[in-house]
Amino acid sequence: MKNIGVLTSGGDAPGMNAAIRAVVRSAIYNGLNVFGIKHGYNGLINGDIKEMNLSSVADIIHRGGTVLRTARCEEFKTEKGLQKGLNVINVFGIDGIVVIGGDGSFKGAQKLADAGIPTMGIPGTIDNDLGYTDYTIGFDTAINTVLDAISKIRDTSTSHGRANIVEVMGRHCGDIALYAGLAGGAESIIVPEEKINTEQICKKILQGRNRGKLHSIIVLAEGVGNAFELEKSIQDKTNIETRVTVLGHIQRGGSPTASDRIMASKMGAMAVSLLLDDKAGLAVGIKGNKIISVDLNDAINSKNYFDKDMYKLAKILSI
Ligand code: ADP
Ligand code: F6P
Repeated sequence: MKNIGVLTSGGDAPGMNAAIRAVVRSAIYNGLNVFGIKHGYNGLINGDIKEMNLSSVADIIHRGGTVLRTARCEEFKTEKGLQKGLNVINVFGIDGIVVIGGDGSFKGAQKLADAGIPTMGIPGTIDNDLGYTDYTIGFDTAINTVLDAISKIRDTSTSHGRANIVEVMGRHCGDIALYAGLAGGAESIIVPEEKINTEQICKKILQGRNRGKLHSIIVLAEGVGNAFELEKSIQDKTNIETRVTVLGHIQRGGSPTASDRIMASKMGAMAVSLLLDDKAGLAVGIKGNKIISVDLNDAINSKNYFDKDMYKLAKILSI
């Protein structure tokens, strides 16, 4: 192992830069050359690759986004695209690749591993939708961003005596809604993992109002019905003015939290260390505060863990 490549792929996540920094610095510390592959798998296919040095990753640990940029690259899913990538790897003499991204990006990494390229996956996504790891890089920052928004919305919800729906991201995973909802004291949390019960939500709003509650926050995970239809339905059923806030890409940006930076730093260093140990086709993760690694295939196929106890607790605490 002499030359390694690093890329970020899929949706960006705060803390990706900290992971890149850890990969680059620990690789150089161990005598490796590091190549930054730009724009995810697009850069691999097109040879958009530059050698990195210690200064390439200076002043980035606190920045959101990714200095390597990111992309979704359909071509890499095809046999032809993969072959183009393999040719470029050959041209640059790259011996191993670290892929920072979500489950889709891991599937690309698995294909490279199957083609004989030692690859390591680092979980970088705000969604926390990879079951083999307790947390993904970016999730903690995203839930804190949502929490900040909920606190602000709660002020105006109280002033007007309204019900406020806050739609959050997470693709098919309710973790952002659940964690931020519990931390923000939301009255209702709607996630893809649990059945939605609009009557129950309305009952809670009215019961709360009757005992003097001035605000009502409903955190809705994207993809579970339509926020604006829910707004209308709540308004019709309760006669309480309702508003929708779709937080959108605000959740993907911002300076990463200490927790995301520390986890990203540990994972980046671990990925390099595994490559140096001649390991291949692994995904790095965290379990109970310990950095672990599992087969990429197992990581991709691991069923996402939804914390039902936490969901129940959020329900109990918001009666
Ligand atoms: P994420 O990594 O955040 O889950 P995506 O699912 O959009 O994001 O995947 C990111 C990129 O990973 C895709 O645009 C594509 O380049 C690559 N990818 C996804 N699935 C595959 C696959 N089955 N084979 C090869 N590459 C894939
Ligand atoms: O996977 C991260 C994520 O932010 C999801 O939560 C969301 O559904 C999706 O990406 C949005 O993707 P885009 O980059 O296309 O806006």
